[in-house]
Amino acid sequence: MGQKFLSKHRLLASQYQVREILGAFLDEMEKGLAGQTSSLAMIPSYVPVPERAPQDEKIIVLDAGGTHFRTAVVRFDRDSVPRVENFTDHPMPGVDKEVDKEEFFDRIADYLKPVIKESRRLGFCFSYPALIDRQRDGQLLYWTKEIKAPGVVGEKILANLSRALDKRGLPRPTNMIILNDTVAALLAGVAATRFSMEYNYLGFILGTGTNIAYIESNGRIKKESGLPADGSMAINCESANFNKFSRGDIDLAFDETTAGPGRHVLEKMISGGYLGSLCYRVLEVASAEGVISAGAERKLKNLETLGTPFLSDILTGAPDIRSDFGEGGAGDLETVRTIISEVVERAAVLTAINMSAPIIRLAGNGSRKRKYSISADGSVYYKLHSYRERAEKHIAEILKPYDVEYKIVQVEEGPLIGAAVSGLVA
Ligand code: BGC
Repeated sequence: MGQKFLSKHRLLASQYQVREILGAFLDEMEKGLAGQTSSLAMIPSYVPVPERAPQDEKIIVLDAGGTHFRTAVVRFDRDSVPRVENFTDHPMPGVDKEVDKEEFFDRIADYLKPVIKESRRLGFCFSYPALIDRQRDGQLLYWTKEIKAPGVVGEKILANLSRALDKRGLPRPTNMIILNDTVAALLAGVAATRFSMEYNYLGFILGTGTNIAYIESNGRIKKESGLPADGSMAINCESANFNKFSRGDIDLAFDETTAGPGRHVLEKMISGGYLGSLCYRVLEVASAEGVISAGAERKLKNLETLGTPFLSDILTGAPDIRSDFGEGGAGDLETVRTIISEVVERAAVLTAINMSAPIIRLAGNGSRKRKYSISADGSVYYKLHSYRERAEKHIAEILKPYDVEYKIVQVEEGPLIGAAVSGLVA
């Protein structure tokens, strides 16, 4: 039941041709690196894989995620083991209500105040698309994850933060660096292997948003000139924006209801910021077309606000979901589960393509290392029931024809640890 509905709206995972989409993804990577029009921005980070493990060092770290803003001090001990200290967790400015530029940076300076004197080095993990300059400041390209702070778009983040610190008479750290959360995840993966040079490293995120970073040789970053020819650096693909595949009519209509229609279309089909609302729209249409009852749709109103935990409950058949639908609703519940399960399966296929593409690119370019370490972070990847298993099954299938060995690791406090590792590069 529901298969015809799923296929009509292009919601069946099998309607997404893996090898074809992978080919398009690889093509967009190449174009993005050459500075040609591409849905993948392929942003250079100017951060290489550090060759030396830090010892007895302390770094201030900031982590601006989807909804949270966290600060801490990371201390690497004598054995290079990182310890997170002085941790605080605040709301991300602009998540609940709109803030102007001044308020945005003032709030961050306030968050920073208790730890600002702890170190002269600062690493800022920033989970939004930002163009990084060679001084490693970042200019926000546009907001994602529905953040409302329009005055910050186009602004350099560290320069503005420094001004906000000056205004308060607080010291400016001498070495500051901003990096994407995927680059932070990648570096956290490097710390997790104790800075082993055996691996090609990747950093992947699937939480409120999604994205991937990997290490590219400077010579292949054609849009950049004057880089040391034998070096390499992390590239933030900004893969949430990948759009070289056809979506269904419900996806298109849903996109129109978001803050940035036409942008981050991959993210809107797979990430925690959108999956709940997308599923809700799908079920609204299912009810309009008589695939589920109108009563069932009303029971699902929660989806819009509860998001992925509620999706998990539906997939696992949690007891209160069953009682919600009651005896008579058993058929409805089964159809709802079939539909949601397929939307999740489709998301897992697209995620697997995203995670495999940089590996295939590196393997195709004759990387000398055949071992890959993917440091994966994000609530949806680990907590949405069955997501991870589904994605990893597809990754295994996609990578089968290639001579690679890979492991997917979860590093505790990855963004903070990665930001600290980058702070040593600055
Ligand atoms: C942002 C990326 C970020 C990703 C994961 C996306 O919405 O554009 O910069 O890495 O979310 O947090």
